[in-house]
Amino acid sequence: MSIPPIHPTAFPGVFTDDEKLYTLNSAPGHAVYGERRVISAGEEYREWSVTRSKLAAYLHNGGRHFPFREDTNVLYLGAASGTTASHVADIVHQGTVYCVEFSPRSFRDLVKVCENRPNMVPLLADATRPSEFAFGVEGVTVVYQDVAQKGQALILAKNMKAFSSPTGMLVVKSRSEDVTRSPHEVYNMVRGQLREEGIRVLETIPLDPMEKDHAMMAVERI
Ligand SMILES: C[S@@+](CC[C@H](N)C(=O)[O-])C[C@H]1O[C@@H](n2cnc3c(N)ncnc32)[C@H](O)[C@@H]1O
Repeated sequence: MSIPPIHPTAFPGVFTDDEKLYTLNSAPGHAVYGERRVISAGEEYREWSVTRSKLAAYLHNGGRHFPFREDTNVLYLGAASGTTASHVADIVHQGTVYCVEFSPRSFRDLVKVCENRPNMVPLLADATRPSEFAFGVEGVTVVYQDVAQKGQALILAKNMKAFSSPTGMLVVKSRSEDVTRSPHEVYNMVRGQLREEGIRVLETIPLDPMEKDHAMMAVERI
């Protein structure tokens, strides 16, 4: 069976074979999390798993705000071992992805991923304290946050202000905020908190069933 050729989507740097999503591998020969690599028209692509990456799940579920361009500098809060951050780095291949992670164990794996990807900068730091990792972080226009801890809206707002970033992508894990409230109530609460911080939510896309009780919010500063 022949694999359909991989072609661009409406989102810069995101490709498809009409079934799955892909990014163009900026470190050919290297996978990051065991994902499939495919050669199409002489280029190597990595399959972008919608069950492993919430940004891929967002696009899969109909998300339409996509602030990444080939030269965008991204501040990525909660990079873990670099699964999604590596795809973002493929997309912004002429920009830089500053990857903040505070778990030493995840950070060790993240550093290995960054060794093959010069536009990923690993920062062992606490996302709630932007002043401690501000040195060297430049020209950020997107803050992407997936920290799965309480107070997600305020952490995003703090970082967007600290780095004067006009846009952001926020993964809201409902259960990290309040297990007693429905995800819908938590998303409303988060939207209200962001509004009070001068941040408008452009789109809220639930990530179920890939990520139960999670939503992605695309945001901009007012
Ligand atoms: C759900 S995982 C992130 C998965 C990752 N974004 C991906 O898609 O590949 C959340 C990560 O955020 C990290 N984290 C949580 N709170 C943090 C904080 N205040 N500062 C930095 N990292 C944090 C956790 O250690 C964990 O690795």
